[in-house]
Amino acid sequence: MPLVNMKDMLAHAYGHGYAVGAFDVVSLDFVEGVMAAAERSRAPVILSLAESHFEHYDFELLMSAMEAAARRSPVPVVLHLDHGASLESAVRAIRLGCNGVMVDASHMTLGENLTATRAVVEMAHACGVPVEGELGYVPGVEGEDAERHPGPLAYTTVAEAKGFVERAGVDFLAVSIGTVHGRLKGKAKLDFPRLRSINQALGIPLAIHGGTGLDDDQFRRLISNGVAKINYYTALADAAGAAIRARAKSAPGAGYTALVKDVSEVISIEAERCMRVWGSAGRAAEVTFHCRPWASVEHMIIHNVVGISEKEAAVMIAEGQQVLGAIPGVREDVGKTYIGPPPWRAER
Ligand code: 13P
Repeated sequence: MPLVNMKDMLAHAYGHGYAVGAFDVVSLDFVEGVMAAAERSRAPVILSLAESHFEHYDFELLMSAMEAAARRSPVPVVLHLDHGASLESAVRAIRLGCNGVMVDASHMTLGENLTATRAVVEMAHACGVPVEGELGYVPGVEGEDAERHPGPLAYTTVAEAKGFVERAGVDFLAVSIGTVHGRLKGKAKLDFPRLRSINQALGIPLAIHGGTGLDDDQFRRLISNGVAKINYYTALADAAGAAIRARAKSAPGAGYTALVKDVSEVISIEAERCMRVWGSAGRAAEVTFHCRPWASVEHMIIHNVVGISEKEAAVMIAEGQQVLGAIPGVREDVGKTYIGPPPWRAER
């Protein structure tokens, strides 16, 4: 059950002064590790899939695993598309079960970013799915995925942020105030006065990308200035890498399962540490209570096809499936078809 509405989840975090972790997962070990951390610390959690990682796994299969993990969990969960590159990506993500999407057009001009983000917002809101946009630019410096975020940091400005949120209609804004994706060189210099002004001007949950490498005090100051969602990946990937290297060293002949044996455990330790520092630990019950559940609606269409052949009926149904299946928000399993007399009559 506990897939919950993302807007409600982040409104709760924003209103109560804590942040929910949005952990990018790249394998089942990551899903299990993050969920174990959330369940141990009773924290609401966002499982994220970053589009830049899609070459490493099958998006559709990992979505199914994430959804199964969320549905059997006692803690509230959101399934989120991270750094979605296009409207098509957002449509696909929602169709596969994401109940939150990010559109990242932050590398474009302000006008292009606005147009691209607005298009995703219109589509996603029609499906009941909230949207995170990004303004300013959070680059990568080194470490995993750095090459995907080239170029210099561009700070979010208060003036642009206000107009952007109003015109694009985003529910959450990822801001650039000094963080970078990937491993940090030295200590990040975060512009807290800028963050404070953005928060005062917008009054909506803010997201921070590039959580790896920030210290506990920096996290607390981010959260006290409106950050309700923290994106985190590289530290989990590094912990996983270190665990595999340690196994390879202690058991040089180890096979695959022996090499990855500790991966989900080390991920869960690091994710739980974050949940405790960010204040989401212990919040699961109140979040579940305050948030609308996220559930899909099953829609059955019965055609009365008296007077046409079975073949004609099949063509008509196939056309209907094509039209309905193209509507954003309609999930994959459109069209379990049965042609014949109504089953209750056939049984007699
Ligand atoms: P880190 O890899 O620096 O933790 O950042 C993750 C991120 O922001 C994903 O969107």
